[in-house]
Amino acid sequence: MSSEHLHEQNLSPETLDRHRAIVSIMEELEAVDWYAQRAEATTDDSLRQVLEHNRDEEKEHAAMLIEWLRRHDAKFDEELHTYLFTSGSITEVEDEATGGK
Ligand SMILES: [Fe+2]
Repeated sequence: MSSEHLHEQNLSPETLDRHRAIVSIMEELEAVDWYAQRAEATTDDSLRQVLEHNRDEEKEHAAMLIEWLRRHDAKFDEELHTYLFTSGSITEVEDEATGGK
């Protein structure tokens, strides 16, 4: 496997697959950001509509990958269960989850 992001050799298949997912999430989120900037900057309304459509498709791709990672990483699963779909102060969610430690 060739990846500029790999920092070690002889990694397990599970670690390599998580690496593939993590790099893919990074790429999807970068694409979301790029499309958002371009959509905001263009003065062409029809181009803005295409860019916004593409931006939102990248969000779907990122969400699918995050769900895959959650299913294959117990700590991510735990953390996402703690923080996602909460409201109010995020740091207070942490305090509640850790008992203020
Ligand atoms: Fe994508």
